[in-house]
Amino acid sequence: MARTLPDRPLRPATLLVRGGQMRSNHDETSEALYLTSGFVYESAGQAEDTFLGTTQHYQYSRFGNPTVTMLEDRLAALEGAEACRLTATGMAAVHAAMLSHLKAGDRVVASRALFGSCHWIVSTLLPRYGITSVFVDGGDLAQWKAALAQPTALVLLETPSNPMLDVLDLAAVCDLAHAAGALVVADNVFATPLLQKPMEFGADVVVYSCTKHMDGQGRVLGGAVLGRKKWVDEVLQPFIRNTGPSISPFNAWVILKGLETLHLRLPAMCRAAAAIADFLAERVEIDRVLYPFRVDHPQQALAKAQMAAGGSLVTFDVKGGKEAAFRFLDALQLIDVSNNLGDAKSLVTHPATTTHMRVGAEERARLGITDGTIRLSVGLEDVADLIADLSEALDAIAPAQPPVKRAKVVIEEPAAAEPEAPAIAPKPRKAARAKAAAQPADATLFELAVDLPEAPRRKD
Ligand SMILES: Cc1ncc(COP(=O)(O)O)c(C=O)c1O
Repeated sequence: MARTLPDRPLRPATLLVRGGQMRSNHDETSEALYLTSGFVYESAGQAEDTFLGTTQHYQYSRFGNPTVTMLEDRLAALEGAEACRLTATGMAAVHAAMLSHLKAGDRVVASRALFGSCHWIVSTLLPRYGITSVFVDGGDLAQWKAALAQPTALVLLETPSNPMLDVLDLAAVCDLAHAAGALVVADNVFATPLLQKPMEFGADVVVYSCTKHMDGQGRVLGGAVLGRKKWVDEVLQPFIRNTGPSISPFNAWVILKGLETLHLRLPAMCRAAAAIADFLAERVEIDRVLYPFRVDHPQQALAKAQMAAGGSLVTFDVKGGKEAAFRFLDALQLIDVSNNLGDAKSLVTHPATTTHMRVGAEERARLGITDGTIRLSVGLEDVADLIADLSEALDAIAPAQPPVKRAKVVIEEPAAAEPEAPAIAPKPRKAARAKAAAQPADATLFELAVDLPEAPRRKD
């Protein structure tokens, strides 16, 4: 029983559950897992026609697989992209998006604040192949302007960035990049497709680590590259087909099922992260707290213009450097020390000695990563239990002292006008926030899991 989706715009929650599903002849409810490496042909002629491209037939799971196609179509529908290809990991997605497009003699400009492995690709791998790479401070438009005064093949950026949650002006950077002839690749892992849609601000390609919020339960690795159909078919697909960074159908299936609850999980995680950021800001053991929707975040206005919520990550510096940071991490009883993020389990990372160890001390200093910097990925536990765990671990750094009074502003109304009504999910952002603000202080996360507003669209 083949059923197509209604021919009208569907909201993100519906797309996350229904998008891309292809039912087999067995009419299964849940997406089928086609755990097969190859496919058979009715005849030698059908095999030839398939390889010629005159017949549509799955050939080999390195090139394509029905379970993988379902996830690709679901993610493309959610992102509003023409096409998607999956990869085995998020890094394979970043690597494939870049290396499929670039050739010797090209020039790449990237924001400095990138995940450690993305930074390595730009700083170390690309130059080995005769590709020039230039880093800029992502928040400084003058640096982008200067770097993009020359013809450039590709721009790589990440916003909010890992781990410092720097936010950059997507529309302004995309305009400058396009004027220089560059393809803009945006790593949207921290925002997820529910909080920010980089293509609406001009990005050409969006990459994800599906390992993070999309699986959301710490089970499998996966990556996604989204872009225009022509680029995906002609540039990316031959690269994936011939170099083989393909995702396992099993992993694609797990991520398909993970996506079905993303619209319930993410708002709860964001609200808990906002509450935790406010809690941390009042503690004397903490030097600074970074959370994109807090008033003391240097790019709060930009974050609110580009994102529907502040995200599930909070970054902060404890006083006392590495020694205090380690003492704090080791004193946590509930939250785990781990370098993953976006999981149902809250996880803490010490970037200087893990994810960003290999970028070097000098570059860490430029990025603002200190020996006291800690990245917290807020999960789905009760926020009161998380705050109790953080509080006790902070007490382990120094004896309890009265709280510092700092601004508390996470759930604050945006000063800007309401964004244009999006084509799908016309959700009133103000109403959603007002509803959140009206929740009693001790409301459970379940009660706080209100509808997530859509990320604003770019106004041309
Ligand atoms: C921003 C960002 N991009 C890419 C990746 C790489 O993803 P994966 O670990 O799935 O390869 C990560 C992983 O932490 C990340 O945080």
